[in-house]
Amino acid sequence: MMKGSVRLDKFLADAGIGTRSEVKIFINKGRVLVDGVIIKDSSFKINIDKSEVRVDNKLIEYSRFDYFMLNKPAGVVSATVDNFSETVIDLIKEGNKKDIFPVGRLDKDTEGLLLLTNDGELAHNLLSPKKHVGKVYYAKVNGVVTENEIKKFEEGLQLEEDFITLPAKLKILEPGEISCVEITIYEGKFHQVKRMFEAVGMEVIYLKRLSMGELTLDSTLALGEYRRLTEQELSEIRR
Ligand code: URA
Repeated sequence: MMKGSVRLDKFLADAGIGTRSEVKIFINKGRVLVDGVIIKDSSFKINIDKSEVRVDNKLIEYSRFDYFMLNKPAGVVSATVDNFSETVIDLIKEGNKKDIFPVGRLDKDTEGLLLLTNDGELAHNLLSPKKHVGKVYYAKVNGVVTENEIKKFEEGLQLEEDFITLPAKLKILEPGEISCVEITIYEGKFHQVKRMFEAVGMEVIYLKRLSMGELTLDSTLALGEYRRLTEQELSEIRR
């Protein structure tokens, strides 16, 4: 395919008009004009700099953002630049690296799902405290987690004088002196999971993020590996 060109259905899906299959239906129905002509062929090539694409006569701007899902390893910082440590951006070897950034932060010693993009609006929506996007973590905790802790997490924990956490879901996966748990939180305060366990007298010794909203870590990604989001994932997190 020539540089700067993209299939019509991909152009529309990337622009957030719908999923690839949804936009194919619009195209079939004759709702899409390219340079003033109805195009019913989804594979029609669009020149992203020159073609004028309209859906129901509305001009569609092409915005080709990058979206990467990274399985963050420990030892790497969730920042764009750092004087001492490797950053999550250093792990990305393609795309427009200049302006991608991590959507939120994981601690240096935390592993797991991190979304990287240059789409500021999407990042803002996912991080907005008002949206209460759920984040699921797997944790190993030094201490015996019981129903008592489940109840306390459910009720909310006071982490600061004027901050009580929203109800969080705690699930015991393996009980014991070292407990393996899954925890879901709906906000993202600094060191939140670690501080929640501290508040009940326990220490998190391993932490990994499994999901953020509708986006789930691809279990085939090894630590340090990444891939682009699929269209399906993208349309789910945009919702
Ligand atoms: N909570 C933490 O304590 N650390 C993280 O990295 C993420 C959530």
